[in-house]
Amino acid sequence: MQLLNCSRMLRNCRRVYSIQGIDGVSHGKTKISGLESVSCKGHQAESVSGITAEDGHGTIIAPKIKEFEMVEPMKHEKGGFASNGKFAAGGTINDTLGKASVDSIEDEAWNLLRESIVFYCGNPIGTIAANDPSSSSILNYDQVFIRDFIPSGIAFLLKGEYDIVRSFILHTLQLQSWEKTMDCHSPGQGLMPASFKVRTVPLDGDESATEDVLDPDFGEAAIGRVAPVDSGLWWIILLRAYGKCSGDLSVQERFDVQTGIKMILKLCLADGFDMFPTLLVTDGSCMIDRRMGIHGHPLEIQALFYSALLCAREMLAPEDGSSDLIRALNNRVVALSFHIREYYWIDMRKLNEIYRYKTEEYSYDAVNKFNIYPDQIPPWLVEWMPSKGGYLIGNLQPAHMDFRFFSLGNLWSVVSSLATMDQSHAILDLIEAKWSELVADMPFKICYPAFEGQEWRITTGSDPKNTPWSYHNGGSWPTLLWQLTVACIKMNRPEIAEKAVKIAEKRISRDKWPEYYDTKQARFIGKQARLFQTWSIAGYLVSKLLLANPDAANILVNREDSDLVSAFSSMLSANPRRKRDWKGLKQKFIV
Ligand code: GLC
Repeated sequence: MQLLNCSRMLRNCRRVYSIQGIDGVSHGKTKISGLESVSCKGHQAESVSGITAEDGHGTIIAPKIKEFEMVEPMKHEKGGFASNGKFAAGGTINDTLGKASVDSIEDEAWNLLRESIVFYCGNPIGTIAANDPSSSSILNYDQVFIRDFIPSGIAFLLKGEYDIVRSFILHTLQLQSWEKTMDCHSPGQGLMPASFKVRTVPLDGDESATEDVLDPDFGEAAIGRVAPVDSGLWWIILLRAYGKCSGDLSVQERFDVQTGIKMILKLCLADGFDMFPTLLVTDGSCMIDRRMGIHGHPLEIQALFYSALLCAREMLAPEDGSSDLIRALNNRVVALSFHIREYYWIDMRKLNEIYRYKTEEYSYDAVNKFNIYPDQIPPWLVEWMPSKGGYLIGNLQPAHMDFRFFSLGNLWSVVSSLATMDQSHAILDLIEAKWSELVADMPFKICYPAFEGQEWRITTGSDPKNTPWSYHNGGSWPTLLWQLTVACIKMNRPEIAEKAVKIAEKRISRDKWPEYYDTKQARFIGKQARLFQTWSIAGYLVSKLLLANPDAANILVNREDSDLVSAFSSMLSANPRRKRDWKGLKQKFIV
């Protein structure tokens, strides 16, 4: 396993402290069993000044969490929200019994969430992916996954417990890739790990003492060696949520945090061979982290990318050096939203248009720009598409539309305003119309429909974990409840999420908080699902907290960009036919 080089931490320290005129940091590395990592000898060493020092063995003594704290730990000034605040007391005996059992589910969830907390140098830093005592193979579920921590972090924020989130943000920043290598190759700087583990290891040269080290995985140890493209995007989204919820903007204003944001943006905005404004990624680069035919421009990554761009724009401090980056960001926001809204969207009308497409159009004004052959419209979709409603397809490539419905991508397109208001409502209309397939006995299907037979064999490589209606291939994931809830609240339709939460409450605690469910109806606990999966627990809590206090969803929501609205309307009024283009906008992306 590749461990993070400690010199990175040192550099980060230099980055932070040099701007404050403190640059007395010694160079050195922590080497444990031939491996390098970010370390903390917090058990023994404490720094009064907050400056990293050398201990005489050539290793870096990271002072306790203080090193990362420029301000006193935040008090719970917001007081948090009562976990049962939604349901008023009173009513019938049945109501009371029902409420009591809901309260006990929430209490249980909070206890489990707290039990999942991981400590580094004595301080909470994240939550473990799953805490399943019945599981014989732990794999990497004992690690803190960046994406899995997001609902945990939001739950803690909504409770007024800010320190763990702050600590997560700052420590993962220390892990951000500087010198990553796999098979002698270094990916671009700015990559955030998929996960990390806190290891307590014997101290070099001192048998009686131990130190904590942070051991990140950038995908080089992960099954399939998948690249965690979503990690940095989620990190930016959480950073903004932290500032909005706690009121503590000092974290996002820090020099090292600003640098971290810019590094992620630079990595995402770097020029490559790609012709589209969407991010080009390999298969398995997000929540679906194994081969599932989502390489190319999967919707989930695009929605998170868009959201992260808007969040970053809000947080970036205006300074001379970043004007090029901000210009590139603004261009990309416009091009990306146009591309997704225009080419990923399908409903009955659009489907009928594709059905009648002419192909092989060679011209700048082609209607069928991606040369989609109408025969690609799958038979299931002809039946499935409701007359009211629509959604964003899973992926778009030359001569290829992946018509599967991917939940997270669609929900986050609503949350981030990547989808228009009309499209957002239509997505929720479709969810309501297709409730028995997308929710059934447990919210929420990760994608619909599943690949079966030959298609499953070819697309997944005969993956026995991704058999039809299991895991990533049409399995049902309770964690998606929280994204559903944010989307419904944003569109002022919380009753949809409330209904889904009630369905989950019927069995999620009894079933021991599984990672996912199998079968078309989500009737079975997933074949290889972990129990006590933290993001199932946290996702449920976030839904409950937000439904009790819908305004709090604003910490995650991106409102429609007003420049974008006027750009679109001037474009449409200039060219009411469907041949839309960007000439008036001096766009350099092909949309
Ligand atoms: C699985 C999921 C991934 C998640 C990880 C830890 O690999 O596909 O999204 O982050 O488990 O829970």
